[in-house]
Amino acid sequence: MTAKIIDGKDIAQQVREDLKKEVKALAARGVQPGLAVIVVGDNPASKVYVGQKAKACAEVGVHSEEHRFPEDVSEETVLQKIAQLNANPRIHGMIVQLPLPEHIRIATVLEAIAPTKDVDGFHMYNVGGLVIGDNKIFPPCTPYGVQFLLEYSDIPIEGRNVVVVGASNIVGKPMGLMLLHKEATVSICHVKTRDLGQFTILADILVVAAGKPGLIVPQMVKTGAVVIDVGINRLPNGKLVGDVDFEGVRQKASHITPVPGGVGPMTVTMLIYNTVEAAKRQTGTGDKSAPKLAG
Ligand code: GUN
Repeated sequence: MTAKIIDGKDIAQQVREDLKKEVKALAARGVQPGLAVIVVGDNPASKVYVGQKAKACAEVGVHSEEHRFPEDVSEETVLQKIAQLNANPRIHGMIVQLPLPEHIRIATVLEAIAPTKDVDGFHMYNVGGLVIGDNKIFPPCTPYGVQFLLEYSDIPIEGRNVVVVGASNIVGKPMGLMLLHKEATVSICHVKTRDLGQFTILADILVVAAGKPGLIVPQMVKTGAVVIDVGINRLPNGKLVGDVDFEGVRQKASHITPVPGGVGPMTVTMLIYNTVEAAKRQTGTGDKSAPKLAG
């Protein structure tokens, strides 16, 4: 078996074309969705991600602004900026790029963002809403993008065995919850899991977000499984790879996402999706029900 490649770049482009149309329709009603990104310090990966976010906003017609602070900025200054942006009606969505320097408490910063503008879905209110399956929250962008890729590719979720490798707050935990709400049987593995392969071999859908290149080899994958690789690792030779041995596993899986060009482009796209949704909710210009992808 050779797996079908799930082309995240192409699917993300199609979603962005739809979003462009929505943004145009909002413009006709006098609304331009706006996203603010707060960045602290000089983390090189953050610079790349923030650049991609700004570019995607420009492409779709969403207003975006970056608020940069030096590494030694006080927590108080960041909180003041968040308060200003909470009160700014042009800004419908706000994110604080992670990681933050150690002297700034991540939880304090994330809890300061108005839940209605928390388009990353990291505020405790949105996290709690995800746990209980509330459909008015903003789902975090990376797992939301994975869910979209599965649904777009007509991969059934209900009743299937899902194994998520990685239990982070940003990807693994919310991913497990989202697919649980879609009525999958979900296992979440993590760094202390013994004999990882015993779990992964049972997966009909395997989502890997561990940050370890080459972690998933063909012997760990069931024939015909759907394999979603969320890892992004830079090898010493400069090559960008995921957590899955792509060439080996593609001979066994039914579907697989490449790195780059799989989940990555969807993460940025879902951020814009959430921002457009936030603008609609805040201005009363949209369907007040959940975004169509929410669990
Ligand atoms: N750092 C790594 N991924 C993310 C993300 O999805 N959102 C934010 N704000 N920071 C990140």
